[in-house]
Amino acid sequence: MLGGTRLGRSTAAALTALVAAGALAGCGGDDAEAAETLTVYSAQHESLVRTMLEGFTEETGIALEFRDANDAELANQIVQEGEASPADVFLTENSPSIDVLDREGLLAPLDPATLDQVGEQFRPSSGNWTGFAARSTVLVHNPAQLPADQLPASILDLANPEWQGRIGIAAGGADFQAIVAGVLALRGEEATRAWLEGLQRNANVYPSNSAVMVAADEGEIDAGVMYHYYFYRDRAENGLKSDDAELHFFRNSDPGAFLSISGAGVLASSDQPEQAQRLVAYLTSPPAQQRLAESTALEYAVGNDVPSAEALPPLAELQAPQVDPGSLDQQRVTELMQDVGLL
Ligand SMILES: [Fe+2]
Repeated sequence: MLGGTRLGRSTAAALTALVAAGALAGCGGDDAEAAETLTVYSAQHESLVRTMLEGFTEETGIALEFRDANDAELANQIVQEGEASPADVFLTENSPSIDVLDREGLLAPLDPATLDQVGEQFRPSSGNWTGFAARSTVLVHNPAQLPADQLPASILDLANPEWQGRIGIAAGGADFQAIVAGVLALRGEEATRAWLEGLQRNANVYPSNSAVMVAADEGEIDAGVMYHYYFYRDRAENGLKSDDAELHFFRNSDPGAFLSISGAGVLASSDQPEQAQRLVAYLTSPPAQQRLAESTALEYAVGNDVPSAEALPPLAELQAPQVDPGSLDQQRVTELMQDVGLL
């Protein structure tokens, strides 16, 4: 726990909060709205979150103020801000960062009715946050250089010597690190370390999933690890970054079929807990999940009985491995990746 650290920072954090409150009261001139504004720290793609929350303010009278940054930045910020954090709701692109807050005791339990809107496999056993979208791990490959009959059977095979210099990963991003957390939860520390050592020897490291996809598309690498939606989005737009590439889904409960969950939770320190609970309920409700399914995001919906976009292979056919999203250990992942020189 970081209780000591938080106490030490409380004065500065309280001052920051006062300044922020002053700025808010001064800018709008709409008192009713200022009294009902939720601060949402969001690391999911901006357009997806805005699309899913469309109509929330109109329906509830609760205004939203967003702070957008990546998973690790926002989680660290909330931990540092502690009790004084202005955040009411935290939305992550991948679940390990929201689970960091759960482990610190910084999240409030979600309403049972909200949890019931989402399948059990898409939320942690703690009940302190819920999934609101999902993304599948895939291998993007260049079929001219790596035909389908030569694909690896498991993502763990990419550590073998025959893959040296032929594969790509976006090691620095929360997306890839969530996959590593999945491998760690499924196969344990020794196997994960050996896999990461192999990747460190074999893989070109790229700054993003898109860069991995372009490298495979252009034949700079034979294959790369990323999430499915970058490929489907590019194909839906114009195919410029993906038309010479194909996707391979590992299936068979392989760690390479890991499904990463985008998480939503209410901060225990929120001074508007009821409104914050309403927002998470809204995000996981059938209409919001339907808007996700119909959007150009091409991520998977996780709401009960809401089918995902037709362009995607159905979630039920991906044969993702069973992992409690609350068992993903971001801190251990960071340490292991640093140990082997991937970070
Ligand atoms: Fe993304």
